[in-house]
Parts: sequence; structure tokens; C-alpha cells
Amino acid sequence: MDILTKKVKGTEDILPKDSHKWQFVERIMHEEAAVNGFKEIRTPVFEHTVLFNRSVGEATDVVQKEMYTFDTKGGESITLRPEGTAGAARAYLEHAIYNDGLPVKVFYQLTCYRYEKAQAGRQREFHQFGMETYGASDAKADAEIICAANNIFERLGLENIHLELNSIGCKNCRGNYTSALKEYFSDHISDLCETCVSRLERNPMRILDCKNESCKKIAEEAPVVLDFICDDCSEHFSKVKSFLNASEVKYTVNPKIVRGLDYYTKTVFEFVTDTIGAQGTVCGGGRYDGLIEELGGQPTPALGFAMGIERLLMVMDAENITIPDNDVTDLYIAALGDDAEMKAFSLTQELRKSSVATEIDIVGRGLRAQMKYANKINARFSMVIGENDLESGTVKVKNMSTGECFDAPLDDKFIETFVKNTFDTIRFGDSAIDEVLVKSISGFLNSDKNGDNNE
Ligand code: HAM
Repeated sequence: MDILTKKVKGTEDILPKDSHKWQFVERIMHEEAAVNGFKEIRTPVFEHTVLFNRSVGEATDVVQKEMYTFDTKGGESITLRPEGTAGAARAYLEHAIYNDGLPVKVFYQLTCYRYEKAQAGRQREFHQFGMETYGASDAKADAEIICAANNIFERLGLENIHLELNSIGCKNCRGNYTSALKEYFSDHISDLCETCVSRLERNPMRILDCKNESCKKIAEEAPVVLDFICDDCSEHFSKVKSFLNASEVKYTVNPKIVRGLDYYTKTVFEFVTDTIGAQGTVCGGGRYDGLIEELGGQPTPALGFAMGIERLLMVMDAENITIPDNDVTDLYIAALGDDAEMKAFSLTQELRKSSVATEIDIVGRGLRAQMKYANKINARFSMVIGENDLESGTVKVKNMSTGECFDAPLDDKFIETFVKNTFDTIRFGDSAIDEVLVKSISGFLNSDKNGDNNE
């Protein structure tokens, strides 16, 4: 088939056969956010370019090479968000959310755009789930957010993922470290790539996460930041570790973690795996105590993390964790004859209003093909409404796995009878939907208890 065009390189479609996996992990993430008191924030896909230049940092790979930046017809420079932290911080300031009282805790789930070399686990459009806290300087806040990320991995049953932790100090202690790096890299200047030579003056820490092989080799022997952090940062780091120890969260201190974005201060961390190839960082985050001020706000401590949902699903796959597919039809209704079809259709609408997942034929299959189809879609129950059933006012409902049948009246008692007979079998999927279902069920059960219904 000659289709007009295919997806753009570095983008992926999430197909119907896979979307339940996304919904499942997203539900776990939202639940974890909720129990930690984080509320969702949704920000635009594009922002003024200056926001990312200032927050992510002019000297970073993301800003220098990877942003999708364009001028609008009105001549404004706009960028598709490469990450979620900057937009959330901008919204926090623009809407003065701090007036609601501190701390402010938000989570997001969004698409991000980075013009990177596409490969397994590295896309040009990808999805992040992230959590951000504003207004909390206490080490408990660092531990809280790390525990939340860790809990998500635990809830999902991941085993081959571990936490690496570091502190890159604050503005005050950064000076000595930067000088030490400058001195070290100056001695190797002839082996640095062109970009790193330009970074040497502006931001030598960025050389530490350059992907060029020669720069990587030189960086291996570079001074490590933990040797340069001030007493205050050191004490903060110790406390973070103590809180993590108290919660039995395992980690290793990796003094080489500096993160690829400029806004970080003090605690930085990554959750990494070796199960999915080269792109093994599933989650990254840390403190960014200077960012809110950089964007025009009052000095405000802040911190957060983001995890790549594609990479997370890859790890789950690699660990053979199967994700339940709740996409199951409760009842398939076949019909023979015009009147029966009409009845099947209206009954289907009623059942769906009661959250019973019901299917009927809409493509003109014959009866045998319909029953085959009911099997294919894993319908839990099926029934055929024929002219006789319409006359008798009763229909046989069949349990598709046991073959057992029960009779149900083809009138306004149908749903009640169906739910009572199938209560243990039908799916319990989305909790919002279940709530509707449970309400209608408990209505029936209560009427039983009250003796209103003595069948
Ligand atoms: P980041 O490390 O740039 O941090 O990205 C976070 C996660 O997004 C990565 O660990 C990875 O799983 C995923 N990711 C990044 N780039 C790609 C890509 N090209 N393809 C697929 N997945 C990718 C941040 O974005 C920070 N905003 C995190 C943060 C939040 N720090 C504080 N708050």
C-alpha cells in the first residue's frame, strides 16, 4: 500500500495494542503523586525560547544542539519544550502559585522534544512524568521526592534499576570546583572537542557530560565535585542520605553524576539500569535552588525529577513484567432480525450507562462470525437475541469460559439480573468507572437487603 507519508524520524505511535501499558504505568505514577500530595500541572507544548536558554542553560547540549526552535509569523522565537521543569517553574511564577502556601507540589506528564540522534531509548519526541516541589529547603524534601520515584519503580515491580546519588554543591562552593576543573581541562585543551573548548571558560562542568569519546576519557580523571562542597552542602547531603537510609532506599554515591542541565544545585540523582542498552538513565533529578530567582522570582528552594516513560516501559519489557490488559468486553450481544437488532442496540446503550462494557455488531457480520468475534475480543458473556426471545421476554446469557448460562428478562430488570449473576466475573478496570458500577450494584444489593426484591 502506498501511504502518503510515514511518521517523522524519532517519533513513535502508541498503538491500541500497547496503550493499556501506558495507562497502567501512568495510573501508578498518578497514584504515587497523589499519596505524596502532588497535584497535576499542565503547561503548553511550546514556550518562549528565552525560558529554556536561561533555565536549562546556554552551554548545555540541549540548548546548543537539541532544541526545536522556530520563529512565529509574529517574529517571536518559540521552542518546543525539551523538558518539563522550566515550564512548570514559569507557570509557578506567572500564576503566583506560591500564594497558595508553601510547599507547592506539582506533577506532570508530558511530551518533550529534543533533536537528538534517534536510537533505542532515545527519541526526538518522548514522554516524561515528573514531580517538582517549590519552597522546601529541608533535606526531607530531597528524600521525599527520591522515595516517590523509588516507590513508582517498586510498585511496578522493577528490580534491575538502582539509584545513584551525588551533591554538586551550591553557588558558593561551585567557584572552587569550577577553578579546579578549568585548571585540569586547560592542561588537556588540545584533546578537547571544539564545543568543550568553548565550555572551558563559560561552564567547565558541562565538559563532564560531553559525549565525545576523547572528552569522556579526559573527564574520567577530572576532579570530583564532592571534594569541593562547602560544610552546609555537605551536611545537607548527609541528611538526605540518612533519610534515605531510614526509609531503606538503596543507593550508591556516584561523584561523577553532574546532570546535563545547568540549573542543579546540591542533591542530584539518577535511576539507572543496564537492561536496556546505552540509554540506561530512566529517571533524573535534583535540587535547583537558584532557578526560581533566575526566572524573576524570590529566592525559592526547589527540586524535582523526571522519568522517561518510553525507557521505563523498555525496562519493564526487559524484566518480563506483564501489564494487565483490562480491555475486556463484559457482554457481547448478537441479534437476529430487525426488531432484535433494535432491542440489542437500545439495551447496549443502557448497559454502557451502567458501565458494563458491551459490544454489538456494527460491521454486518453473520451470526457465526459474530460469535467468533465475541471469542476473539474475549467477551466474558454473550447472548443472542432472536425473535423467539423477544416474544418470550427472556434471553439466555452465556458465560464464555464455563459455558454456563442463566436466564435474564428482556425488560428493565435486565441490567440488575445481569450484574447480580456476573458480579464476580466482570472486569474491574478504571476506578472512576468502577465507582459508577459499584454504585449501581450497591443500589441493587441494598434493595435486596431491604426486602424490596424477593426473587
Ligand atoms: P533529563 O535527565 O534530561 O532531566 O531527562 C529525564 C529523563 O527523560 C531521562 O532520564 C530519560 O529517561 C528521559 N529522556 C531524556 N531524553 C530522552 C530522549 N531523547 N528520548 C527518550 N527519553 C528521554 C530532565 O529533563 C529534568 N527536567 C528532570 C528534572 C525535573 N530535574 C528536576 N526536576
